[in-house]
Amino acid sequence: MAIAIRPLGEHVGAEATGVDVRAIGPAETERLLDALTRHGVLVLRDQTMTPDDLVAFGRRFGPVEYGVREDYQLPENKDVYVISNIVENGRPLGNPNDGFAWHTDLSFLEHPTAYTFLYAIECPPEGAQTEFASAFRTYDALDAQERARLDAMRVLHSYDMLHKTRKWAAPLSEDQKAKFPDVVHPMVRTHPVTGRKSVYLGPNTSLPIGMGEAEGAALIAELMDRTTDPRHVHAHDWRPGDLVVWDNRGMVHRATEYDKARYRRLMHRVTVRGERPF
Ligand code: OGA
Ligand code: MN
Repeated sequence: MAIAIRPLGEHVGAEATGVDVRAIGPAETERLLDALTRHGVLVLRDQTMTPDDLVAFGRRFGPVEYGVREDYQLPENKDVYVISNIVENGRPLGNPNDGFAWHTDLSFLEHPTAYTFLYAIECPPEGAQTEFASAFRTYDALDAQERARLDAMRVLHSYDMLHKTRKWAAPLSEDQKAKFPDVVHPMVRTHPVTGRKSVYLGPNTSLPIGMGEAEGAALIAELMDRTTDPRHVHAHDWRPGDLVVWDNRGMVHRATEYDKARYRRLMHRVTVRGERPF
C-alpha cells in the first residue's frame, strides 16, 4: 500500500491517501497513527466500511469503549454509536442534537476518549461540517504568568452538568448519575506520545476547582474562544465514504448546523479509550 500524507493546515489536519482501511496491517497502522499524532486530525476518503470494519479499524488504535448513550447504539453492533436526524418507523436512528458546541469527547470519564472515528454514510450537500482546532496552539501562546496559573489548575468535569444543558431530555436517573460520577482532570494536559501540552477543554460544562461558577465558566469560554480563533480552524466538508479520525488529547471540535428538515445525515462513530489525563 503506497500511503501518502498531506497536511491540510498549519496547526490541524492531514489527509492520508492510498489507504484501504480494511486491508491495512501493523506497519500501515503505525504510519497512520504517527500522522494522527502529528496533525491531530486524519482524513481518509473513499472508504467502504461495514460497522464491523469500522470497529476493527478502531481496535487497532486501542480499546473501543461501549457507547455512553445506549439509546443511540447501532442495534447490530453496539460498539458503533449513530449520529443522525433520520427517523425510521418512529425510531430515531441516531442522536441528532449533540456536538454543536466546541468540545472534546467524553471528558467527563475518568479515562476520556483518545481517538474518535467518524464515518459518513449519508451527508447533506451543504452545512453539517465538522470543525477542528488545536488546543496545543492555545497553550503555546500563553504568557509565563498564565501558564503558571493554568499549570496548577484542576477542573471538575461533570456528565450531570452536561446533561442538564440538554433541555429536551429527561433528567438523569440516580442510576445514570452513579454510572458517570464527576471527575477532576488537570487544566493542562500532556500528550502521552509527544509530551506536548495543551489546555484540556471539555464542553462548557466543566468547572475549575476553587472558582465560582460564573468566573469558572468565563475562563473556560475565554480559553475556548482563543482555541477556536476562526483563522486557525479546519473545517471538514463531508462526502459519503469519508472517515475522519481525531485525537482528543489536544484537539477540540464541533458539528455545524444543517437544514434537518431538508437533508439526511447518517454517521457511524467509534471511540477508543485513552489514559487518565496528566
Ligand atoms: C462526535 C462529534 C461532530 C459531527 O462524533 O463526537 O462531535 O459533525 N461529531 O457530527
Ligand atoms: Mn464530539
